[in-house]
Amino acid sequence: MSNKKTDKYKQQETILDELPEHEKSRMDAEDYATTGHEWDGIREFDKPIPRWWLWSYYLSIIWAIGYVIAYPAIPLINDYSKGLLGWSSRGAVSEEISIAKLAQAKYVDALKAASLGDISANEQLMTFAVEGGKSAFAVNCVQCHGSGATGSKGYPNLNDDEWLWGGKLEDIYTSIAHGIRYDENEDTRYSEMPAFLQDEILEKQDILNVANFVRSFSNLDHDANLALQGAVIYAENCASCHGDNGKGDQEQGAPNLTDAVWLYGSDQATLVKTISNSRRGVMPAWSHHLDDTVIKQLTLFIHSRGGGQ
Ligand code: HEC
Ligand code: HEC
Repeated sequence: MSNKKTDKYKQQETILDELPEHEKSRMDAEDYATTGHEWDGIREFDKPIPRWWLWSYYLSIIWAIGYVIAYPAIPLINDYSKGLLGWSSRGAVSEEISIAKLAQAKYVDALKAASLGDISANEQLMTFAVEGGKSAFAVNCVQCHGSGATGSKGYPNLNDDEWLWGGKLEDIYTSIAHGIRYDENEDTRYSEMPAFLQDEILEKQDILNVANFVRSFSNLDHDANLALQGAVIYAENCASCHGDNGKGDQEQGAPNLTDAVWLYGSDQATLVKTISNSRRGVMPAWSHHLDDTVIKQLTLFIHSRGGGQ
């Protein structure tokens, strides 16, 4: 056993001989005490930790005591130590909020006072309005119109320049404030397409014919003979709302039937269903839930989405 150990040291000395000078001086550490741990010839010195290190420990302890005294720190049974400075994260947030509110107040007041047209002509106010409208949209409107306001079946896309009820500032404002076919609001937008089959105004075959005629507006596949008969039915039953040439009528919320934008769909089965049963899409009147300033902001936000008129 002891033989083996001396062997090992010998081996180490041979290595030492081959080491460069500066490395050797490092190994010259026999004078330090060791902890007695040794592994594979490597020994562990028993040296105190550096002084700077020790001092940084002491400093952190002093800092921690000061912190505990100055700030909320120790949980108690029903409460916590409040700290001498009286700081709280809740207080900090409400202070930030009131600063932000103060900064916004002048804009909110200006929005309240200005007309939609004035706001849209004022770049600063407009930026503020559109940002506010965007967040109000995310809270109140996305569940129906989609997060990008692109809509879905029965819920119009608000980004394009196809409008059911008009894309001028005032039109959009009215749609939002009073809703669409929303009975609880006196000034709601109202006009309803008859359910031509349910209400026994037209026969099944008439509806098939007029559906073919509607498809002919935008050159979708259709049976020309049926469409020819459909044209007569259209003139008598539909033109009063959708127009002689199918371009629609925003006064009555009647969609343009000649373009590629469809609220419910353009395939024959869907058209037959729309004409037979009608659809009667409903949108809530937001003046019941939202402040007028917010409705203005929403109006400007939607108007700014590219489809404003
Ligand atoms: C419950 C579903 C629903 C919610 C929520 C909703 N809408 Fe609508 N919105 C509709 C429907 C349905 C229509 C289409 C009604 C129709 O067929 O004429 C519509 C139509 C509109 C129109 C008219 C579009 C046009 O082409 O003329 C505007 C503008 C509009 N919505 C804005 C909003 C805004 C802003 C909000 C949020 C404050 C909102 N909507 C929330 C269902 C909704
Ligand atoms: C009183 C007015 C009125 C009359 C008459 C009327 N419509 Fe409509 N039509 C509307 C309105 C309003 C809508 C939108 C319905 C909704 O959103 O609920 C609509 C929607 C439609 C749609 C759906 C368009 C889409 O984008 O998906 C079609 C198709 C249509 N009408 C065809 C007809 C045909 C065909 C007739 C005649 C047989 C007719 N309408 C008569 C008012 C009318």
